[in-house]
Amino acid sequence: MLQGKKILLLVTGSIAAYKSVFLTRLLVQSGAEVRVVMSKGALEFVTPLTFATLSKNPVHSDFTENKNEGTWTNHVATALWADLIIAAPLSANTMSKMAQGLCDSFLIAVYMSARCHVIVAPAMDHDMYLHGGTQENIGKLKSFGHTILSPKEGELASGLLGKGRMMEPEEILENIINYFHPALPLLGMKALVTAGPTYERIDPVRFIGNFSSGKMGFALAEALAAQGAEVTIVAGPSNQFISNPRIKRVDVVSAAEMLLACEKAFETVDIAIMAAAVADYTPKHFATEKIKKQDAEFSIELTKTIDIAYTLGQKKSAKQLLIGFALETEKEEEHAQQKLQKKNMDLIVLNSLRDEGAGFVSDTNKITLIWPDNKKQSFGLKAKREIANDIINEIVKLIKA
Ligand code: CTP
Repeated sequence: MLQGKKILLLVTGSIAAYKSVFLTRLLVQSGAEVRVVMSKGALEFVTPLTFATLSKNPVHSDFTENKNEGTWTNHVATALWADLIIAAPLSANTMSKMAQGLCDSFLIAVYMSARCHVIVAPAMDHDMYLHGGTQENIGKLKSFGHTILSPKEGELASGLLGKGRMMEPEEILENIINYFHPALPLLGMKALVTAGPTYERIDPVRFIGNFSSGKMGFALAEALAAQGAEVTIVAGPSNQFISNPRIKRVDVVSAAEMLLACEKAFETVDIAIMAAAVADYTPKHFATEKIKKQDAEFSIELTKTIDIAYTLGQKKSAKQLLIGFALETEKEEEHAQQKLQKKNMDLIVLNSLRDEGAGFVSDTNKITLIWPDNKKQSFGLKAKREIANDIINEIVKLIKA
């Protein structure tokens, strides 16, 4: 989401400087190139080496730090490099200097030389934040066109309760993405995706599973995140890989574990996509010791698993969207429509195993989307990544409807 963006992080003297270490990591993971400038006060809280290691760039805090080599650090070049400046945490002291143009440090000289947009995330104690001087300075920064990320209420380093906690790094990242991509349709929304197979344990060495690779579900999670959503993917055993910081991965093994993880996440999400191939049956008893080979025939008693999509469909509020999959081999559209109605879904994605190139392990898929009013739309054989984009585009239309 931030590929190729140059972000200059100004860190000032506040205990919240430790949170900016995480912010640096999130920015780098999102594709941004990050450089860090620290105030003298910030050096008391976190070492420059931490930021230098994470940003993979040298950290500066003074004009003359390289004077023994006969060079100086150029504040103007540092400022003009940036596509965006984020001052986090911004202390009351540095905020006041920014508002006044009091240029007594390298950090302020960089800030005053900048031509890009500036976002600030103040951090200070409750009463310092409410002080008339601070409020006046915030007003001034707003009048310069800066974006103020208001601090949050909560426990402060002083032990007091109140407003002054710096916004959490994940939320700062959201705001930065919003600055670069203001029109992303799912920004501010949360999504849940299930993916992959489930393994139902028989004994310590055996399980009942299926051939699902998880590719479709992982592609959907990436497509949701690319449209701005914050995603939780609940994945059964799968060797698919996620590096997007906007996607939280929860690994599970069995249908029962997947149900628990989904119920936990569902309350706060706007969109849930059930792309996992969940086992319909699980062994009634788990053998704690390895089952020994004995008779010529052997049977395992199975019991039905709880249907996750159905469970979430019963809990769904009017604002939430539930999307499911149907993998069928005959009477495909009829069966898919029945599943959609029974599980209270808003949209179902039908795959037919009769279509070549569709199904579990392949990189391609061929789908038909079916809505509750029986509207249908079929798509040609495509890469799962492209199919994921087609599905998410339809979900965006449902949200906007
Ligand atoms: N599903 C689920 N939990 C289950 C079984 C299925 O959440 N225990 C979800 C799947 O992720 C999919 C949808 O329900 O989105 C339909 O799954 P599918 O296996 O096609 O249908 P079933 O309802 O299991 O019916 P059948 O296997 O008899 O076709």
